[in-house]
Amino acid sequence: MAADESVCVVDFEPYLKRGLEATWYDYYSNGAGEGQTHRDNVKAFLRYRLRPRYLRDVSNRVTRTSILGLDIEFPVGVSPTATHGVIHGDGEKATARAAASAGTVMVLSLYSSKSLEDVAASVPEDTLLFMQLNILRSRVKTEEIIKRVDATGRYKALVVTIDQPVYGRKRAQPLNALLYAKHTQVPNILNHPGETWCDSNSIDPACTWDDIKWLQGVTSLPIILKGILTAESAKMAASLGAAGILVSNHGGRQLDGVAATIDSLSEVVEAVKGSNVEVYLDGGVRKGTDVLKALAMGARAVFIGRPALWGLAYNGEAGVRKVLDILKDEFSLAMALAGCSSVAEITPDLVKASPYGSL
Ligand SMILES: Cc1cc2nc3c(=O)[nH]c(=O)nc-3n(C[C@H](O)[C@H](O)[C@H](O)COP(=O)(O)O)c2cc1C
Repeated sequence: MAADESVCVVDFEPYLKRGLEATWYDYYSNGAGEGQTHRDNVKAFLRYRLRPRYLRDVSNRVTRTSILGLDIEFPVGVSPTATHGVIHGDGEKATARAAASAGTVMVLSLYSSKSLEDVAASVPEDTLLFMQLNILRSRVKTEEIIKRVDATGRYKALVVTIDQPVYGRKRAQPLNALLYAKHTQVPNILNHPGETWCDSNSIDPACTWDDIKWLQGVTSLPIILKGILTAESAKMAASLGAAGILVSNHGGRQLDGVAATIDSLSEVVEAVKGSNVEVYLDGGVRKGTDVLKALAMGARAVFIGRPALWGLAYNGEAGVRKVLDILKDEFSLAMALAGCSSVAEITPDLVKASPYGSL
């Protein structure tokens, strides 16, 4: 495919396949188990239909909004995904620069190929960065990472992943966690000379809500809990004072068979109504109309995982920027066609569940 023919986000996917060994391509693209949740994340958006409002002045549209009180040019950020360095030499620096120039937020993965310090130093001061964290078996190590995050002064929130007590199993992924770590750089975790992968710096499967309380004592950064799909967990998050909830199923890479994120959104939004918790969504966002639907259903912003990787494979920083630009353009177009001039005008009446499913 010639580059100019890439007019929508899914057009970028083949570039990832083309540029990587099959094992790595499988790692980046697959879902867990049979891939039911992975596929459903995308398909579920089709089960909701838009209810446009016409004869409203939509000549000027403002896509700008804010997240945790911080401005973003449009409500699409970049979710944390591991090891961008395998896809492009500039790794997360390229992704972060693209998010920065597009005026949106990037969440850096704990498993990034470039260190959190290098990424922070590679983008302008006013770039909005969040840091993703898993709680590791070694709390000392976990705390050390948080101190490094604090020391940069550049990360404005901690995004704590809670849907990964253990690694989900992807059928076509021969890379197990240990092998994966051996073949990649994980400088946010292995940052001392000679330090190697071991049990204590792997994810702690014994984590509970008490550990979220512990985290709150260790950091003054706002905490966003990533991986919530149910009202029960959402209420726990709100009662503990989480600043945000990212409705996510890890892109269908953890527990196969859980609901698509767009199908889980209303339950979560309803559960935290009246609190100050902001609700975001990732999983299956591929089009501007997906963004519009998620916002109408109560998300403050959405995030993309794989599409950013496709852009990175296509052309590094410029490729990620192109993917973000397409989503911004499509979102603005969808706003106009649905009768919205601002994000505040995107309200629940714009969406209904379709009686025809995803046809
Ligand atoms: C290759 C890959 C690596 C990922 N690595 C992480 C990670 O390190 N931490 C994390 O919290 N989520 C991780 N995720 C999940 C994403 O943050 C996000 O939830 C998911 O990709 C969103 O779905 P989408 O890919 O359909 O946009 C990863 C996802 C993919 C595809």
